[in-house]
Amino acid sequence: MDSPLYIGKHRLASRVLVAPMSGITDLPFRRILQRFQPGLVVSEMVASEGFSRGTGEGRERSAGAGEIDPLVIQLVGRDPYWMREGARHAEAAGAHIVDINMGCPARKVVGGQSGSALMREPELAMAIIEGVLEGTHKPVTLKMRLGWDHDSLNAPDIARRAVGLGVCMLTVHGRTRCQFYEGDADWEMVGKTVRAVDVPVFVNGDIQTGTDAVQALEQSGAAGVMVGRGLVGRPWALREIIAKVNGEPTPEPLSADDMADVATSHYQYTLDFYPVRKGLRVARKHVAGYIDHAPQLGEDQRSALRAELCRTEDTERVLEGLRDIYLRPDALEVAA
Ligand SMILES: Cc1cc2nc3c(=O)[nH]c(=O)nc-3n(C[C@H](O)[C@H](O)[C@H](O)COP(=O)(O)O)c2cc1C
Repeated sequence: MDSPLYIGKHRLASRVLVAPMSGITDLPFRRILQRFQPGLVVSEMVASEGFSRGTGEGRERSAGAGEIDPLVIQLVGRDPYWMREGARHAEAAGAHIVDINMGCPARKVVGGQSGSALMREPELAMAIIEGVLEGTHKPVTLKMRLGWDHDSLNAPDIARRAVGLGVCMLTVHGRTRCQFYEGDADWEMVGKTVRAVDVPVFVNGDIQTGTDAVQALEQSGAAGVMVGRGLVGRPWALREIIAKVNGEPTPEPLSADDMADVATSHYQYTLDFYPVRKGLRVARKHVAGYIDHAPQLGEDQRSALRAELCRTEDTERVLEGLRDIYLRPDALEVAA
């Protein structure tokens, strides 16, 4: 797995991609993730209509021009017109690659016939893909699920048609829409899509470690993996996953100093990026993630830290707490 992979003219730094996660893969987190050299990091989904009309939220979610390379902006929507406009705006906002969301199961999104609901309406899905391709000259990629439910596992059909229109890379989350996040991702089933098309297909769902990644690749035959939830609170896990996928030795664990720097920089970037209230709210999710994934902490310490650091508005105290998690866990033991 060491031959380079290209999307358009972009040579991917690795075959491990970071999944779009609404409320999670904002610019501050993408900056942090990029330190570990994934192939690419996808933005949070951006609602095509609002984005085209110039909403602040659209600008916020699509941010990263000049910093994130390649900049991948994911669009969601149900109207081919607005998806075309969204693609135009994504390119103007600096996107190197435009991704289409056909995987999101959220009722708010599905109720609007977008996200994974589009897998039930292949004609509309194709019109949307055509719209996006018309709106941009940049490479267009597509993320989807296995199908709506187990009676309609149509990812391979959609993939074939999408590639026929010009989509140049696909990611398949190995669950149906009706499964939401229940059960295990079926990596073998993703293989049907891999075999249906001649563009790179990435396998997604439940990949947390390098061993998971290798198994997912073996079972699916995919070109690479896409990882989401497994990186919340431990973005450095990318190092081990990338090494395993490349067939390289497992890297030494990141030093405590470097982990503390990642967590505190992430916190500070988040506060700097958003208005104050929103910054505190978004940052809390990640602070909880860092606490939950710090292996050196006991359960009591975790609860005590969560109760304190995820409520306080004293940002200096949060920075100190984040440093202590990695640099002085014994001191926390005494305090807990
Ligand atoms: C909080 C959250 C937000 C998500 N937002 C998006 C999104 O904006 N667009 C998208 O295509 N998928 C979204 N997903 C799905 C993920 O990209 C991914 O397919 C899913 O989490 C399975 O991968 P994982 O097991 O590695 O997390 C989201 C998932 C989570 C947990």
